[in-house]
Amino acid sequence: MTLLVPDRATMAEVRAGMGGRVAVVMTMGALHEGHRALMRDARGRADHLIVTVFVNPLQFGPTEDFDHYPRTLDADLAVCREEGVDAVFAPSREDMYPGGKPKVTVNPGPVGDVLEGAFRPGFFGGVLTVVAKLLNATRPDVTCFGEKDYQQLAMVRAMAADLSFPAEVVGVETVREADGLAKSSRNVYLSPAERAEAPGIHAAMQSGASLAGKGATAADVRAHVIAELPGGIDLDYVEVTSPDLGPAPETGPARLLFAGRLGATRLIDNIPLTVEAK
Ligand code: PAJ
Repeated sequence: MTLLVPDRATMAEVRAGMGGRVAVVMTMGALHEGHRALMRDARGRADHLIVTVFVNPLQFGPTEDFDHYPRTLDADLAVCREEGVDAVFAPSREDMYPGGKPKVTVNPGPVGDVLEGAFRPGFFGGVLTVVAKLLNATRPDVTCFGEKDYQQLAMVRAMAADLSFPAEVVGVETVREADGLAKSSRNVYLSPAERAEAPGIHAAMQSGASLAGKGATAADVRAHVIAELPGGIDLDYVEVTSPDLGPAPETGPARLLFAGRLGATRLIDNIPLTVEAK
């Protein structure tokens, strides 16, 4: 049985009744295969699984899509039932932020200002604040986040470590469409023509990653990916970093990250790569 939990007070009662290990998957709803992968991974790590569904106003910029973000609670509940979720915590904005915007928020530190943080000021402060609140509302032993949002995963890990949240933070590999496009709740915004161009992002990234295995430097990889991206992309960034988002290594494991817009839709993606010495 999947219980719909509408507020923090009820969540506390439901949580108190859960024995054994508890896993949490946090989402903004509009659930797809990527979210399902997180649920399945989390399910295998605990006795009880809680999914949170909350479109967090704090992490949307003034020109972003908060009002238009897809809200599909009935369909989301059906997905959660199929995945054997015990409780879906879907609080209202008022329940999460009584009195409006909180005065005290989480400071994401320096990594919050690069990559996504440079293009979306305030984004990671908003994300980490709601993640902290959702951790406190659900008190999980383990919580799964997608590698799709690689910087978010890194920042949640860092917050859990630096602010001593007891939950273990687990990263789950990105789920893609058959043509390589990373699954995203925002893909529904793409026009048919944009949808046809979108797989070119992953193709360009893979092509760059394969060059890295043949002696190309991080800078070569970046230039190659930028040149190979579909023509309709309005680029925010392509970067090669270390796996923990520091400077690109001369050799060894690295991460290739992309963000850009196709028409009005902002897309992000990332893949691992290994920079091989010549
Ligand atoms: P949302 O975009 O709904 O994503 C919820 C979780 O699903 C995140 O951990 C995200 O990385 C993961 N996810 C999304 N698409 C995925 C894919 N294709 N493959 C694997 N995992 C995927 O991320 C958020 O919501 C919010 O910022 C949130 C953490 C809930 C805070 O508001």
